[in-house]
Amino acid sequence: MLGTIRFHFLGIVAVVSSLVFHPAHRQNVPSDQCATGVHAIISRGQAGDGETGWDPLNVMVSLQNLILEQIPGSTSLGLPYQYGAQDKFVAVHDGAQLLQNYVTSYLASCPESKVVVVGYSLGACLTMDAICGTSSVGLNPVAALNSTYASSVVGVIVYGDETFIPEQSWNVGTCEIGLGIFPRLDPGSCEPFASSIQSYCDIGDNQCCSPLPLDNNAAHHAYMAKYNQGVVDFIRTRL
Ligand SMILES: *[C@@H]1O[C@H](CO)[C@@H](O)[C@H](O)[C@H]1NC(C)=O
Repeated sequence: MLGTIRFHFLGIVAVVSSLVFHPAHRQNVPSDQCATGVHAIISRGQAGDGETGWDPLNVMVSLQNLILEQIPGSTSLGLPYQYGAQDKFVAVHDGAQLLQNYVTSYLASCPESKVVVVGYSLGACLTMDAICGTSSVGLNPVAALNSTYASSVVGVIVYGDETFIPEQSWNVGTCEIGLGIFPRLDPGSCEPFASSIQSYCDIGDNQCCSPLPLDNNAAHHAYMAKYNQGVVDFIRTRL
């Protein structure tokens, strides 16, 4: 087992830590550990300047816990991408490819399992690029995930995505006229996964709903408390 995987078993949230602390490039899972609920792969936001330690979930632990508590038989991990990298373009590009590798290798190991990919902020950009492919000016290109995975990837959940654009069927939240800093020019490439995607973006989040209004970007930090339960309810409707 590579990375750290958590699962809910008989009401107890267990933590299985790995013997290998270097981030793995794939995720292969013994068949007796395949999720019977969902397998959630969560990509956190960029590490802040003063952040210490190596926490691949950070504030997204709250959503992981809710998924594990409310969807029995679920497993989850934080994607070990370079969330501490200075170069966020490299982090998004390499992270999107890493996420694709995690999804495809996991489903090769566990073909009957359902996967949800979840991302916050920088992790939202890489999650959407991993699914739809890149179509933002300035972001390094990644090809879309093969649409044959649409039946297994039942949730694509993002909070505060810098590639956000208005008027998409998968948009959730209060942003109706703003744009992400790196708007997605070809949302049509997301179409095979459209019924799985929920992109949360609120007014006041200057990263996904630029430029109005200016309130110190408070909305960018409010998604977990406001929407985690809605996310879990959505995932349940997709199973
Ligand atoms: C997607 O996967 C299918 C089934 O494995 C394959 O036949 C097809 O060529 C793939 N498409 C692309 C664009 O790679």
